Amino acid sequence: MTTAKQEWLDVALKALDHAYVPYSHFPVGACLVTTEDEIYQGINIENASFGLSNCAERTAFFKAVSEGKREFKHLVVAGHTPEAISPCGACRQVMAEFCSPDMPVTLLGDNDSIKETTVGQLLPYAFTDKDL
Ligand code: THU
Repeated sequence: MTTAKQEWLDVALKALDHAYVPYSHFPVGACLVTTEDEIYQGINIENASFGLSNCAERTAFFKAVSEGKREFKHLVVAGHTPEAISPCGACRQVMAEFCSPDMPVTLLGDNDSIKETTVGQLLPYAFTDKDL
């Protein structure tokens, strides 16, 4: 593994400590990397009004997009799950909005569990701007 990729994994894992999860106690961390090698860290942020909770992946995307970033090359998602975490459907749709289907996504869980996948594998037959 390259040192850059190891750094991305470390960012996602360290982000777990910042997750705001008083209701689910299910922390998730994310590291979104732009094509210019900028790193956007994300965490899940919950709310007493449960439906307002935001996932870690979308926090990372919304931080980056709000700063004018549109081109991404890698996403890492980490959870304290027995196997590599599985991103929710809403986050897969947001990935499909901003990333090419072949963009790599690395999913992490406890005990060094790791799954390498892509945006297209996570959301085949995605609804995109081409469908409008
Ligand atoms: N969660 C994420 O942050 N990302 C996902 O892809 C799956 C779910 C969060 C939302 C909520 O704060 C907690 O995990 C439990 O669903």
